[in-house]
Amino acid sequence: MSDYSNLDSDRSLDGSDTMDTESRTFPDTERRRLLAAMGSAGAVVLAGCLDDENDTDEDGDGEEISHVVAFLKQDERIEVDAPEDEALLYPALDAGVDIPYSCEAGRCGECTAKYDGDANEVVSHDGNEYLDDDQIEDGWVLTCVAYPSDDSELEVVHPDDM
Ligand code: FES
Repeated sequence: MSDYSNLDSDRSLDGSDTMDTESRTFPDTERRRLLAAMGSAGAVVLAGCLDDENDTDEDGDGEEISHVVAFLKQDERIEVDAPEDEALLYPALDAGVDIPYSCEAGRCGECTAKYDGDANEVVSHDGNEYLDDDQIEDGWVLTCVAYPSDDSELEVVHPDDM
């Protein structure tokens, strides 16, 4: 049975080669076959992430459900593919949205955004300790603990700045 535990580069930080003799005898054909299989799996995952129809789980296969959330800040508009099981802050940051944050736990209120309507229509909060129910109904979203439930457009702004 083959040992695939040494597929990653085994170079140390100083650039020296730390592979042992047994790793050097790893058959190239098996290594290429495994890397090709891993590449195919990565392509399938990537295709799923890029699929515009990914906002539904029509076949109930448990694949990730996501929504398109547009973040507005000053003259910039960035659309983000936001998975339902991830707080909005993180795909926004990954996409380059300049959104302030600090505690990442729903307490400090740094990461707010504003929806033009009742925020309960487009997100569900889990762990919010900053916004009250009226603020959420007025459209305020605490992005570090807000999970998207529909497509939406959010302005990156804080209640104190309004
Ligand atoms: S980062 Fe503190 S409440 Fe979101």
